[in-house]
Amino acid sequence: MHIASTPSSIRKLTASWRKAGASVGFVPTMGALHEAHRSLMERAKRENDRVVVSVFVNPKQFGPNEDYSRYPRPAAADAALCRRAGTDALYRPAPAAMYPEGFRTHVEVEGFSDRHCGASRPGHFRGVATVVLKLLNQVAPDRLYLGEKDFQQLTVVRRMASDLDLPVKVVGCALVRAEDGLALSSRNAYLSPSQRAAAPALYRALQEGAREAGRRGATPDTVERAARAALARTPAFRLDYLSLVDERTLERPASLSGPLRLLTAAFIGNTRLIDNLPVHR
Ligand code: PAF
Repeated sequence: MHIASTPSSIRKLTASWRKAGASVGFVPTMGALHEAHRSLMERAKRENDRVVVSVFVNPKQFGPNEDYSRYPRPAAADAALCRRAGTDALYRPAPAAMYPEGFRTHVEVEGFSDRHCGASRPGHFRGVATVVLKLLNQVAPDRLYLGEKDFQQLTVVRRMASDLDLPVKVVGCALVRAEDGLALSSRNAYLSPSQRAAAPALYRALQEGAREAGRRGATPDTVERAARAALARTPAFRLDYLSLVDERTLERPASLSGPLRLLTAAFIGNTRLIDNLPVHR
């Protein structure tokens, strides 16, 4: 497995692959890799000749009181997982290589970035869109693999790729859950044993909302209310937001039609967990 740490070295490597006719799949991550990342790498491996994984804890997508400095950075374990998954190159740029002195340019995906997770994390999606565009320019892949766990992120990146005519196919990959239903996330490592035991209640609340959608007389309001009431039964959680949205626009639907999804974020202790679930009538 190649290890690259500068934009010019990863660019040179993938250019040599493309010159030889190989397709390139790209999995951007912030490290602390787990099975959900591995499933993205495996899909990228099946669909491309070469796979690049980036590990970069992006300072621009963390708010001033968030967990940037304590975000887990298990470099050796991450490299080992990439190797086991058959990754061809691991790209680990330093913050100074990504944002050199004088950096001024940011990407804003208007309307999609300031609601739901964006309302509680101002500037988060601006940071995500900016780093993803930079990484795409550096790696120049044919396909980009993102998990559906960050459904709003996936929607923001799709919009950016379409609006800016980026020559990449954005592939959304199904969320991966632990056996008890908790969505896999690097931040699950922050949970104490009792918080971890309570955490699957977030998924169960979404399931309760999805069940409500199938009931006679259900409306967007009753779906959200059913899910919120279910979560309220687990006092360990403090709800940040829970919204039923149209998957294409992230706006609230007027009725229960179209591709719909429940999105949520909630705190358990100081840890903010996110989850989402498609809703069918
Ligand atoms: O989903 C993540 O891990 C990050 O938001 C991403 C896409 C790697 C950008 O920093």
